[in-house]
Amino acid sequence: MQQLDGIVSRARAAFSAAGDAASLENAKARFLGKQGELTAQQSALKNLAPEQRKEWGAKFNAAKQQIEQALEARRAEIADAKLAARLAEEALDVTLPGRGRGRGGIHPVIRTWQRVEQIWRSIGFEVADGPEIETDWYNFTALNNPENHPARSMQDTFYVDLKDQDGLPLVLRTHTSPMQVRYARTHQPPIKAIALGRTYRVDSDATHSPMFHQVEGLWIDEHISFADLKSVYTDFLRRFFEMDDLELRFRPSFFPFTEPSAEIDMAFKGSWLEISGAGQVHPSVVRNFGLDPERYIGFAFGSGLERLTMLRYGIDDLRLFFDGDLRFLEQF
Ligand code: PHE
Repeated sequence: MQQLDGIVSRARAAFSAAGDAASLENAKARFLGKQGELTAQQSALKNLAPEQRKEWGAKFNAAKQQIEQALEARRAEIADAKLAARLAEEALDVTLPGRGRGRGGIHPVIRTWQRVEQIWRSIGFEVADGPEIETDWYNFTALNNPENHPARSMQDTFYVDLKDQDGLPLVLRTHTSPMQVRYARTHQPPIKAIALGRTYRVDSDATHSPMFHQVEGLWIDEHISFADLKSVYTDFLRRFFEMDDLELRFRPSFFPFTEPSAEIDMAFKGSWLEISGAGQVHPSVVRNFGLDPERYIGFAFGSGLERLTMLRYGIDDLRLFFDGDLRFLEQF
């Protein structure tokens, strides 16, 4: 009997000492297992007289029950402690400000792109799109810029290590003007379209970047004149800058694909700023459109989106657009 009490208290002590489920199961084996201390007592039963056996049996069962209860209680404690530890570990500090997810914004040049598209659409111009890697023919020849003509050197070109059908290297388009030809060859007059996109030149300083954006405009019909160009372009710029009295000036210039040609300047802070090249489409170019220049006439223009954006927001260094500095970009 004494022994049974001793076993019970040793078992309780061993269970309390077990710090985790595995050591608790080991401790259980030491008392309740096949070779366990309590199990060993069971064999003593055989040697007792029948009347003693009954009493001893009851004590044995009571001791066994106590040990099992102690075991269960400790199991529960260990499980609770484990859960508590996990909850503590995974606890959320709900008072901590969220990290949030950085929301992207629309790049200022793309804002201009969207705005320009929307204004020209409202004046009745279709929006066209075409390749940035161009053939020599579309970028130069079709625009009245013959091979070896000195006018080609106006644009320092990026050539691509691939040749077109004519065996000429492909170029990163130096302007959006090839879109005049692409669009006109696939549409019937009246043609009224703009094309926006990236253009490339070997050029890099505060006002030039090797990659920049242009918007090209083309209006071809039977009686389109310079006066129409002047009126729609003025309308466009006034709406773009939200200035109803914005003044424009057309200054004679040269482009191989227009005749006459002009630079369009806008009045800005007491001086004139060049905003676009323009002109009446040259008869040879109209012919390359697949149209009869005796019948069809019209104008084209090409403006830089970076320039429009800089003037609209008062930005003085073009490189800011391409540095990816969030302090700059977040302001839009
Ligand atoms: N393509 C010319 C340039 O890049 C601009 C232009 C377009 C001029 C259309 C006249 C007509 O400078």
